[in-house]
Amino acid sequence: MAERLPYIVQPMTLADIDRVLEIEQLSFSAPWSARAYRFEITQNEHSTMLVVRPAASRPVVAARWLRLLSPGVREPVLGYAGFWLLSEEAHIATIAVHPEWRGRGLGELLLLSLLEEAMESDARRATLEVRVSNTVAQALYRKYGFQTVSRSKRYYADNNEDAYIMATSPFETPGFTDRLRLRRAELRSRLRQEAEAAGPHPQRIQKESH
Ligand SMILES: CC(C)(COP(=O)(O)OP(=O)(O)OC[C@H]1O[C@@H](n2cnc3c(N)ncnc32)[C@H](O)[C@@H]1OP(=O)(O)O)[C@@H](O)C(=O)NCCC(=O)NCCS
Repeated sequence: MAERLPYIVQPMTLADIDRVLEIEQLSFSAPWSARAYRFEITQNEHSTMLVVRPAASRPVVAARWLRLLSPGVREPVLGYAGFWLLSEEAHIATIAVHPEWRGRGLGELLLLSLLEEAMESDARRATLEVRVSNTVAQALYRKYGFQTVSRSKRYYADNNEDAYIMATSPFETPGFTDRLRLRRAELRSRLRQEAEAAGPHPQRIQKESH
């Protein structure tokens, strides 16, 4: 069932990598390489990588269906996220939104899309690790039902920072999918209201260069 939203979530393709790397370098102190993303897209069968971009005039459709529709739309990528499905666990491997587009619900849209894809892929729960200093990301994760389960000492090699290991309850836990459904409804309403208030999307992102 298609529903109009100002953004669209699609599977990441090779054509998205340049733009993904641009955001990656603005977002992470130890960014992944183009090769790493190529591997995720073309070889890693456990990997699901998504991007979000302005929808132009297109409706948002579940990423699973968009894969079949081969969309030709090439609006600029505003953010991306991915998970690895390992032993029935969806491990959130990455999530980032371009700094100029943060605070508008796109991180939520990406995380929600990952969780929905994970459920459709028969994952039983989701896990991730996050820097202890990254309180913004932790707030996003908690909003979607993640809780801290442990702390890994010196997990990040670039600065020896500790990581929190966070996990959702098993997806079949009573109330988990209801909570997600509520979040989805709230988010869609927010995205539509903000888009109406802002008018047509400025295409300023396309002017940026490396
Ligand atoms: C984490 C990140 C993806 C969030 O994306 P975003 O589009 O800005 O987030 P949203 O606008 O969807 O916000 C969703 C929630 O995140 C949290 N959040 C977002 N910005 C926040 C801020 N400045 N301060 C505190 N919490 C914040 C809030 O819980 C927010 O929900 P709310 O609006 O109800 O308060 C983005 O900040 C980012 O790309 N960071 C750099 C990369 C990174 O750290 N990735 C995570 C690695 S583990």
